Amino acid sequence: MTLDEKIGQLVSYSAGFATGPAASNLTYDDLVAKGQVGSMLNVVGAEKTNHYQHIAMERSRLHIPLLFGLDVIHGDHTTFPIPLAIAASWDPAAAAMVARTGAVEARADGIDWVFSPMVDIARDPRWGRIIESNGEDPYLGSVLARAWVEGYQQDDLSKPDSVASCVKHFAAYGAAIAGRDYNATDMSEQTLRQVYLPPYHAAVEAGVATVMSSFNSINGIPATADPLTLTQILRREWGFDGFVVSDWGAVGELMNHSIGDGPTVARKAIEAGLDMDMEGNLFGTTLASQVRSGKIPESVIEEAVRRILRVKFALGLFDHPYTTPGPAYEATSERRAVARKVADETMVLLKNDPVEGMGPLLPLSSRAKRIALIGPLADDQRDLLGAWSAGDPKNVITLKEELSERLGDRLIYAVGCGLLAGEDERILQTVTFGGSVAGGQTQPLPDDDKSIAEAVDAAKQADVAILALGEPANWMEGEAASRVHLGFTGNQERLLEAVVATGKPVILVVLSGRPLQLKWAAGHVPAILQAWSPGIEAGPAVADVLFGEVNPSGKLPSSFPRAVGQEPLYYAQLPTGRPATHVDLTHMPTNSEEKFVSRYMDEQNSALFPFGWGLSYTRFHYEKPTINRGEVPLQEVLADKGPVATVGVEVTNTGSVAGTEVVQLYIRNTEASVEQPVRELKGFARVQLAPGETKRLNFPLGFDELSFYNVDVKRVVEPTTYDVWVGGSSLADQETELKIVE
Ligand code: NOJ
Repeated sequence: MTLDEKIGQLVSYSAGFATGPAASNLTYDDLVAKGQVGSMLNVVGAEKTNHYQHIAMERSRLHIPLLFGLDVIHGDHTTFPIPLAIAASWDPAAAAMVARTGAVEARADGIDWVFSPMVDIARDPRWGRIIESNGEDPYLGSVLARAWVEGYQQDDLSKPDSVASCVKHFAAYGAAIAGRDYNATDMSEQTLRQVYLPPYHAAVEAGVATVMSSFNSINGIPATADPLTLTQILRREWGFDGFVVSDWGAVGELMNHSIGDGPTVARKAIEAGLDMDMEGNLFGTTLASQVRSGKIPESVIEEAVRRILRVKFALGLFDHPYTTPGPAYEATSERRAVARKVADETMVLLKNDPVEGMGPLLPLSSRAKRIALIGPLADDQRDLLGAWSAGDPKNVITLKEELSERLGDRLIYAVGCGLLAGEDERILQTVTFGGSVAGGQTQPLPDDDKSIAEAVDAAKQADVAILALGEPANWMEGEAASRVHLGFTGNQERLLEAVVATGKPVILVVLSGRPLQLKWAAGHVPAILQAWSPGIEAGPAVADVLFGEVNPSGKLPSSFPRAVGQEPLYYAQLPTGRPATHVDLTHMPTNSEEKFVSRYMDEQNSALFPFGWGLSYTRFHYEKPTINRGEVPLQEVLADKGPVATVGVEVTNTGSVAGTEVVQLYIRNTEASVEQPVRELKGFARVQLAPGETKRLNFPLGFDELSFYNVDVKRVVEPTTYDVWVGGSSLADQETELKIVE
């Protein structure tokens, strides 16, 4: 290979729609023919990918196939619930199934590389990309990271329906200061390693083929040019042998991070361990001259080329570069059934109080003869699909469609208001992701006052009102969609208040990709179902739970705040010397014990709905957990030869319907050289229980669960006592303990 051909392999262009700013607009045919491109993104469909592949295979001198990448985030044409919702299922098999289905459909479109999973720990819902994450917890996030990668790659990239997975965004992108996308992150190396890195590491252990570097800087060093993360940790410590691609334009953006001019930042990035420049063109335009002048050793370029070619070989692209065009996608009943089953598992019942004459409001009783369905998301195909969806909104079955089918003229529908108010609502109707105005047609501005009045009328005629509220998924969720207000957008809160004021029982279905601030609703509405963005089977999946055909089993992967000012809010807080055990907000602190504690003067510290929370239509009883050994010698844990103790717990379904419980195990290290979180998830299991049935679950504890990073940033276990809790949320209160002795 000539130097230019080598560098060509390190260049990736978006030759279709833009998924970032300043998209290139080049004559890609020529570049491919000259061997100046190694990969393309956003080129979708066998016809289009084959077009470029033929040029690469037939006209370029070395006939090296191109790699085609795409953001397949929550399934492809068969669009599943958003990743945060899938995390709420606490079901790795569901995540693997979504990845598998996405891989099969992507391959049929000529895509052999997917920019997924995103495993950034997200502890601040102001950050719009929390929708693509597995939430706030490193343990849950690691289990799911593995499942996603295995689903995409099947442990064998050469299978015709495997795709190369790209774990992103390395590293700590989710810790953007103040939840503002692309902002810097700053944290101790202990926190980086203990909280933020484990899910990426899990993906690497699962054999992920590629890694995407992140836009943010970490402790002052931009991640795209960070030798600590890209070389020391990723390759030396974890043994990663795939390639690292930058995020969109991120090599060029290094100039904005003030670390040098174009040639300098390109050199810093490749020397730090970055292999491919996505949609930036700095590698393509600045590396060759620096190699020729001796500034960059050619061996650095060659190493990156080898890493990229290895992935192309593993995918079998040299033998099978083309995609056979297939029939157009159809949302068949088989594909719908899979999407519905996954969506059913993601529903989180946040609240379900009894109402007069009906018992708990959910599942809907047959006494509810007339039902009002109200809200801008009840019949909105595009937003029910969720942010960053590859599928066609036309395939979405909405709540309105499904409920009309089930209830006929017992259903009264009113839109209530727009997702946004006034002129913003009109912009929303005409803008697609990326900001291009589609058509620019002028529509009359919606009159929310009038439609709220109509919704109130509808509620008055009904026995129960279902409100489908949230935020515009394609505009205010996902990338570049941070928010400082986490309420319902537009006039939806007003709509909710007006309907509640009718006195009719209200079921609130929240359709959002992030924890919203639900404080008013939680105080005034008897039943709240967190339904996220459910994908193509939105209507059927929500109805399954509303009518009790599916008993909800989802649990929150992310804490729901009482007020935005609590953010970042997460259960695994570090301790404080002045914990606030009880905050009484009915009066101002009257003594120094109440005053000088770690608290807010105007709000509780706790979450409105905590991590791990989710109700069921049945009840589960937990026996006190047992441990097979109360004391374990330190040396035995350090030997790291598997579990050293096992926590057992019996769980019984004491209600009258079958249900699935997510049993969760938390620990606290009570005495350590570096302070440890007040509790941390270290095990969980989904268990199905018939009414009256009891099952025993066992949770192993070993070096992985018990270790932490000490002041020298070494992973250690020390003599201590661990408090251990088991239960159905992070409030778990059934307790045992484990001592580690010298
Ligand atoms: C930018 C996003 O941060 C990343 O997640 C995505 O994969 C790329 N653009 C490509 O679209």
